[in-house]
Amino acid sequence: MRKIGILRGQEDSFPDALIQRINRMGVEDVQADFIEIDGVKEAPDFGDYRVILDRISQDIPFYRSMLKNAMLNGVRVVNNPFWWSADDKFFGYCLLRKIGINVPRTVLLPNRDHTPDTDAKSYRNLKYPLSWEDIFDYIGFPAFMKPHAGGGWKHVYKIHNREEFFHYYNQTGDLCMMLQEGIEFERYYRCYGIGYQHVWLMEYDPLQPHHLRYVRNPQPIPSGLEAQMRNEVTKICSALGYDFNTVEFAIRDGVPYAIDFTNPAPDCDIHSVTEENFYWVLDAASQYLVELAQQPPLDFQEYRWSHFLQR
Ligand SMILES: Nc1ncnc2c1ncn2[C@@H]1O[C@H](COP(=O)(O)OP(=O)(O)OP(=O)(O)O)[C@@H](O)[C@H]1O
Ligand SMILES: [Mg+2]
Repeated sequence: MRKIGILRGQEDSFPDALIQRINRMGVEDVQADFIEIDGVKEAPDFGDYRVILDRISQDIPFYRSMLKNAMLNGVRVVNNPFWWSADDKFFGYCLLRKIGINVPRTVLLPNRDHTPDTDAKSYRNLKYPLSWEDIFDYIGFPAFMKPHAGGGWKHVYKIHNREEFFHYYNQTGDLCMMLQEGIEFERYYRCYGIGYQHVWLMEYDPLQPHHLRYVRNPQPIPSGLEAQMRNEVTKICSALGYDFNTVEFAIRDGVPYAIDFTNPAPDCDIHSVTEENFYWVLDAASQYLVELAQQPPLDFQEYRWSHFLQR
């Protein structure tokens, strides 16, 4: 038996449907369920599990540590817990610029207040004051200020001038923030990228309340733009090493800019993403997880980043 284990938090609709879908596919020798985790020994037995889909380790470090151990023991984990532990949004923008994807101009800022157990002496390597004029000239206004890691719109500010910038920056405590060029977009898309090949584009209106953000009856996408976004989703997910991800693009003057693309546990709830998108991601995810389960167990000899990059 080759098992696919789903690890979930509070969500219901997607993981429940995924297990049902995989088990009804009738693929010989492959079955899915909610994996049950006990205390984890350093040389654990993951039994028949070939694949674990992780939907929650961002909130539960115990699971993250267990998942690294699962990989060490041959289990394929979606998404890779090593990448997930290492990435941050700023690194993402830098990486995308290197691989030729449009991203807004972005500057990483030191935390406003001291982090725990540090004092002024700990920051002696920092230039003081920072070259604010240069930073504002580079980014321009309107700008977005947001944390270099995180999600759920927490501490995301739209900023129109330097006074507003300092007003909000002074409230960010010890968070590490980024200041970013604001893309004044005519359209916005959120796209699923599954298994480095399946891509699904969803028009998304971030200015609407949560339950209305996925646009019903979207306008057709110009074919050149559609092809470009499809291509870039695959390229971005491959470069990041995320095989279950969403990528967001803001479209300005017909040009897509990647805004948010490190979402290794993307929203798949039928109540927010709408039925059409839900059934697409259910199909793509079940197919991909079954394909993974049919592959031989992982055989990593080493856990350096460079090794993962040879995928
Ligand atoms: N550079 C930008 N230009 C224009 N709009 C932006 C920019 N950065 C962020 N936004 C807006 O702010 C929203 C939240 O930003 P972002 O997605 O980076 O944060 P998040 O905390 O990851 O949010 P979520 O979890 O909802 O994806 C985006 O959906 C977009 O509407
Ligand atoms: Mg986002």
